[in-house]
Amino acid sequence: AFKPLVFSGVQPTGNLHLGNYLGAIRKFVALQESNDCIYCVVDLHSITAQLVHEDLPGQIRSIAAAFIASGIDPKKHIVFNQSAVPHHAELAWVFNCVARIGWMNRMTQFKDKAGKDRENASLGLLAYPSLMAADILVYRATHVPVGDDQKQHLELARDIAMKFNLDFKEKIRRTGTGVDITVGDEPVHAYFPMVEPLIGGPAPRVMSLRDGTKKMSKSDPSDLSRINLMDDAETISKKIRKAKTDPDALPSEVEGLKDRPEAENLVGIYAALADTSKAKVLSEFGGQQFSTFKPALVDLAVSVLSPITAEMRRLMDDTNHIDAILRSGGERARERAEKTMGEVSDIIGF
Ligand code: ADP
Ligand code: NA
Repeated sequence: AFKPLVFSGVQPTGNLHLGNYLGAIRKFVALQESNDCIYCVVDLHSITAQLVHEDLPGQIRSIAAAFIASGIDPKKHIVFNQSAVPHHAELAWVFNCVARIGWMNRMTQFKDKAGKDRENASLGLLAYPSLMAADILVYRATHVPVGDDQKQHLELARDIAMKFNLDFKEKIRRTGTGVDITVGDEPVHAYFPMVEPLIGGPAPRVMSLRDGTKKMSKSDPSDLSRINLMDDAETISKKIRKAKTDPDALPSEVEGLKDRPEAENLVGIYAALADTSKAKVLSEFGGQQFSTFKPALVDLAVSVLSPITAEMRRLMDDTNHIDAILRSGGERARERAEKTMGEVSDIIGF
């Protein structure tokens, strides 16, 4: 079997929001207790949708600051910036040749982000999942904590790994670089592991506060739709008070949230912030109105987020410190990635 290794990444684009925190960063923190973890700021991904950025170095530092302020230990684990390790892009090129165009065309995130004018989207936006597979597999990582929106990309990473393993079966044997695993019931001699997505908890997909059918997103034009990690207590309070809801009281059972996306979203956010289940939240708030529940949610959100916000601000003022962390993480990541790329080159015949 492959040695367990956790990998995930966050793009340095725009403000981090509560969806990024609950769907990803909070899980990163929990996983570090009993795993070897690599957490990456994925700057190469950030130029797929928008090429020119006002302050990319500042955005990169702010993601690293969010990781550390949330509780990730950059000494025990690796925190680094993607472009510091050129092997991500190198393996992505190989994966561009492994993956099929049809696989990429089926990605719902590409369809969403490319919009109507697909012919005018960057080639990088189409190939994004191939780079994401390379980010993970250049470390032969086995577990990937992400929000629910990334599920399809992780299935694609498994398809890429599987096709590479099968296409190069003989060469993987000959170079002695493979590991025996079983996929389904089939024994496979694999160079790359089948990555396991870690998606779950009470809020795997945090929805917009203005529209319970859309995910909370950096790219939503309405700032009222999301809680940003850098929002102060007053702003958080305003956004939750203005959050769209229905007129009914909260149900006392989870089944009662069916067809009430806004209510379900707020209860899920509460449960995730309190590290509990929706059922537990409803056993406390069932039968109560949003006028009671919303102020409780504001208090909880502020108590969880304000220490993180304060620490992020402090870290972002100390540019040298953040840069040193990223540099050291980049060196450690590079050593591991170099080993994989050397073996991949042997397998292919470069
Ligand atoms: P965004 O999707 O906001 O552009 P990224 O692509 O950098 O941000 O995603 C960073 C992480 O945050 C990913 O693991 C992604 O699944 C997670 N994430 C993003 N939005 C949400 C959301 N609304 N709910 C849950 N997780 C989310
Ligand atoms: Na995303």
